[in-house]
Amino acid sequence: MKTTVEDFALSDIAAVIRKRVSVRNYAARPISEEDYEAIGQYIADPGRLTGPFGGTTRVELVKVTGAVSEKGIKLGTYGMIKHPQAYLVGVIPKDNKQALLDFGYAFEKLVLFLTDRGIGTCWLGGSFNRNSFGREINLSDSETIPCITPIGYSQGKEGLLRSAMRTFVKADNKKGWSELFCDGAFGQPLEEKNAGKFAVPVEMVRLGPSASNKQPWRLVIAEDRSAAHLYLAHTPGYSEVMQLTDMGIAMSHFELGCRAADVDGGWVRSDPGLPVPDARTEYIASWVVKA
Ligand SMILES: Cc1cc2nc3c(=O)[nH]c(=O)nc-3n(C[C@H](O)[C@H](O)[C@H](O)COP(=O)(O)O)c2cc1C
Repeated sequence: MKTTVEDFALSDIAAVIRKRVSVRNYAARPISEEDYEAIGQYIADPGRLTGPFGGTTRVELVKVTGAVSEKGIKLGTYGMIKHPQAYLVGVIPKDNKQALLDFGYAFEKLVLFLTDRGIGTCWLGGSFNRNSFGREINLSDSETIPCITPIGYSQGKEGLLRSAMRTFVKADNKKGWSELFCDGAFGQPLEEKNAGKFAVPVEMVRLGPSASNKQPWRLVIAEDRSAAHLYLAHTPGYSEVMQLTDMGIAMSHFELGCRAADVDGGWVRSDPGLPVPDARTEYIASWVVKA
């Protein structure tokens, strides 16, 4: 399967992943021409927007003044985002699970690229008016907008409403290793001291953003350390679209972590058939180490 991480230059991947945080309160200052130029180049390059399963996300840049686009369309985020300077809008084919994985993967790499440049982002899958964004970018009947992100420079403080949002979704409450990672089989927690070359990649997954901070990623590291199997622990009643996007994000973090830790390999979709803890746990993909 195609790996697209090679063309992604980040000064220090782990530091950028640690630095990323959802920004909902932006400075009134406009984005510099230089930054717009870098963003424009990035989103014009399909290679950088292609995921491990070969799907390419269309990303549209929409500048706003107040909440209004240059076309005069009002683009709402239900009061969630203050002073956005522009939006990046992700577009993929409708009703396609694999496209969602590719989307999460590619859009998160874009988010990390922006983080590295000092530009704030916030994944939005629910808090935006899909109809007006669809009109703005001429969405076709066969396409969907899974998520967008506002962009701009962070104001520094998030303010009362936005801090309340962080508390509501327990944004600062990241699950620990024992809840997320297993050694050889489900039910056997992976200990950090035994993680070997996978220590950095799994930690990068743990630090990732996820919809409502549900952190649905689970990883089982093969006993002989030749592979890592990624699963989605579905939250009952919660959006599958959002949780598949979360898995794409996890794949990008894992792969970038592998690159940082010099673990050569690639993604395959080949279920190892491990017993899963319940019917809500779905196999997604495996990272297979190159011998
Ligand atoms: C797929 C996805 C969808 C999200 N949708 C929203 C949203 O609609 N509104 C919002 O305020 N935050 C949204 N978030 C941001 C999460 O709440 C946030 O990532 C999580 O609470 C962890 O906080 P952090 O990003 O600061 O680490 C979304 C995140 C992801 C990954």
